[in-house]
Amino acid sequence: MSALCIGISTLVTIAVLGQSQLGNQDPTAFTKGLTLNLHSTIGGEKISFNKRITDIGASFDSEGSFICKTPGIYAFSFYGLTEQNSKLWLEMMKNDQLIASIFAYTVADYADAGNAVIVHLNIGDKVYVKAHNNYVHTLYGRTNQIYNTFTGELLFADNLELDGGPVGFSAVLTMNVTLSGGSVLNYNKVITNIGSGYNSNTGTFTAPIEGTYLFHFHALSYESSEFWLELFHDSHYVLGSYGYTGGYYADAGNTAVLHLRKGDTVKIKSRPGRSARLYGDDDEYYTTFCGVLLSSIIYGSGYDLQSEVAFSVGLSHNEHSTSKIVFNVVFLNQQNSYSTNTGIFTAPVAGIYAFHYHALAQRALSEWVELYHNHVYINSLYAHAVGGYGPGSNSAVLELDVGDTVYLTMQNHGSYLYGDSDNNIYCTFSGYLLSPTARHGAVIG
Ligand SMILES: *[C@@H]1O[C@H](CO)[C@@H](O)[C@H](O)[C@H]1NC(C)=O
Repeated sequence: MSALCIGISTLVTIAVLGQSQLGNQDPTAFTKGLTLNLHSTIGGEKISFNKRITDIGASFDSEGSFICKTPGIYAFSFYGLTEQNSKLWLEMMKNDQLIASIFAYTVADYADAGNAVIVHLNIGDKVYVKAHNNYVHTLYGRTNQIYNTFTGELLFADNLELDGGPVGFSAVLTMNVTLSGGSVLNYNKVITNIGSGYNSNTGTFTAPIEGTYLFHFHALSYESSEFWLELFHDSHYVLGSYGYTGGYYADAGNTAVLHLRKGDTVKIKSRPGRSARLYGDDDEYYTTFCGVLLSSIIYGSGYDLQSEVAFSVGLSHNEHSTSKIVFNVVFLNQQNSYSTNTGIFTAPVAGIYAFHYHALAQRALSEWVELYHNHVYINSLYAHAVGGYGPGSNSAVLELDVGDTVYLTMQNHGSYLYGDSDNNIYCTFSGYLLSPTARHGAVIG
């Protein structure tokens, strides 16, 4: 009995701390997925994701577009997998404006692509995913195989009073570029730059304030070309992405959550000795780089790093098994919420969390990775590039109770993940607390 009381009072304390950390905003977060094939012969239509995986305070119109009710800074991501021998070319739109594109095709197999963006929305703004006009698309999905997903989350409502924040940027490469080995990729078109952290003359993000930041980057190779891009924190390699698919354009990306001090830099570079050929155009936004401050030392007097929940981990060796993936390299692990012994993330606080995962298959082999919440299947990635390394990604927002677990497993049909040393990390898993669930505290109180 006394143990129970201690447990409850701890929970209430954490919830209160969490609120001072994130301010008083009603959470808005969702993940939708496709559990069936979707074939479009003419393109142009909005993708109607038929399954609501998570929906907390989000509003949609009858066509499935997200409608902004709370003005603020949002993160959106979308992932796709084609049917075998098919293509997809999807676009994420903010009202009538393109904000991100994905393209996928690989000879003789299913192909994966994804992208992410940070945008500011006003009341009534709509965000949706559509099939590119005048194009034939086939997306693959099953009840227990959800690859095509659309995720959105409110990070900072405009009415939050922040002393020095918020910080969020999103930039795109809108031309074909051949980047020589070891060079910084300069994303020329800026979509969002709140806090002025991103410099489009240098391609470098500089943290205007200390805090924990989320970064995503995605790229599309030029036809029959490869890219090997790496995320650097100051002069330190963190992780990479690799894309190549014979005769076509290859999509790959990655995610990191990092703690930065004021003045720290984050940038994307090509691998030394390897030039990267990238595809982009005025109205095709595949090659992107975005980042956002998740929290910082400025939020309220009660804020301290120990109350923050975020992790970001990677794999530095090949892995082939049918069980949980145990990531061995830690980029960030606040409160040790991710176990490098078991591969399991355990929620220390009830709340709404976002998770991102990326993987690269070993040469000529496939990978098939699934995200689980406790024992419940959420979604998957699959990749296989004939004669190459297949990249795949997915993400989800989940509502967790204290002690709930989230982890990745490999499907027993054969999953061969690639990793090789501390500067060859492609397979990653990241998560962070978006918002403590205030009502759990209120119910107990
Ligand atoms: C990039 O290359 C493609 C294929 O060669 C070409 O069609 C396209 O116009 C190029 N884009 C730009 C912005 O030059």
